Amino acid sequence: MLRFIFRRDSRVCLEYEQSFASKIGKGKCLSFASGRMALYELLSIYKIGREDEVIVTGFTCSVVIESIIKTGARPVFVDISIDTLGTCVESVKQHISSKTKAIIVQHSFGIPADILTLKDIAKSKRIKLIEDCAIAYGSKILGKTLGAFGDASIFSTDHSKPMNTIIGGLLYIEDNQDIFQVLEERNRKAFKLSLARRFGVILRICIERMTYSGSLIRAYCRMILGVLYRLRGFSPFFFPFIESGFQNSFKRKIDKTHRLPPELAYLGSMEINIWPVKAEVRIRNARKLYEFLSEYPSVFELPKAIKNDNCYIVPLRVVFLVRDSNLRDRIMELLDKNSIWFTSPIISRKLQLIDYSYNNGDCPTAEMVSQYIINLPVDLSENENVTLINKLRNILNDV
Ligand SMILES: Cc1ncc(COP(=O)(O)O)c(C=O)c1O
Repeated sequence: MLRFIFRRDSRVCLEYEQSFASKIGKGKCLSFASGRMALYELLSIYKIGREDEVIVTGFTCSVVIESIIKTGARPVFVDISIDTLGTCVESVKQHISSKTKAIIVQHSFGIPADILTLKDIAKSKRIKLIEDCAIAYGSKILGKTLGAFGDASIFSTDHSKPMNTIIGGLLYIEDNQDIFQVLEERNRKAFKLSLARRFGVILRICIERMTYSGSLIRAYCRMILGVLYRLRGFSPFFFPFIESGFQNSFKRKIDKTHRLPPELAYLGSMEINIWPVKAEVRIRNARKLYEFLSEYPSVFELPKAIKNDNCYIVPLRVVFLVRDSNLRDRIMELLDKNSIWFTSPIISRKLQLIDYSYNNGDCPTAEMVSQYIINLPVDLSENENVTLINKLRNILNDV
């Protein structure tokens, strides 16, 4: 992979983008150093700015809101549906105004939001529809892949996402080729990541891959990751992630759009090749976990949409609500608490909700869900998944 470091041509990126786009639909893709950069570029090309409003769910990552705020537009928060944990249709209808220029529809945990209805609404009001597929790669509705419904869609390939290139994002446009051309020209002229960060990403790949190996190596790797985290202030070599623009020190933030380096595009192409196997593992593990959880309907509340026959779901995580605080605490002991997603309406933030223009009560369902949510990984071996189920069973027998 190192041979790509000094390569100047963008052929590797082009091949990756074409291959990624072909998995979504008939449109085209552009790659970036993160999903938020893809979103920001898209909003800018749509000329969204001051005086405009962008509808976004109050159950998302702070960087999505930051991309909106950076354009000068105002984020307008809509709630999530309790059935899909994605954007709620009714809430969108209530929040559309004459200033609304775009609706960002989020599909959460691989579960499709009701994008067909939202598409009709956006079309009738002549509002841009953007799908946020950062945490939902490969799922389908009636055979059509998420990302191909909106005017455009964004993806993230950050290391916690379905496709993993450690850092990275993509923008997909189904049919507006004029806009695509302008974006493409801007993308090819965008900044390149520093060599320190690029080497840091490669180091990170090596360490993260090794944490999947034997337990002793895993323990050492965790220790190294801990040390690198402590050194994160010194150089992107130690902590190569692109941190949020608002919340971190001025030095470390990357607020300009950067391209995806070719070595990560190469890694992305490899991820696409092995995706069918990864998807099968995720589906198998999630099916078993959901089967187990369904045995206790009074204890575990599952999103109804997982049983929607029109949907093919590749889960990012298995997600459910547990209202019993004692049981919740016991389950949390099994997990790294920080690995539970969306325990607050806007996650990965150091500022207050109000700094993102979010007022308590804006999204009651999202706020309720974030109190009771548990989500479990599904990228486990079959044995690890069985062990996880057995541990959950033991907890249930105890409480
Ligand atoms: C729902 C959602 N959308 C978009 C993003 C942005 O992705 P990236 O971290 O690649 O900028 C994230 C990041 O976690 C996310 O959770």
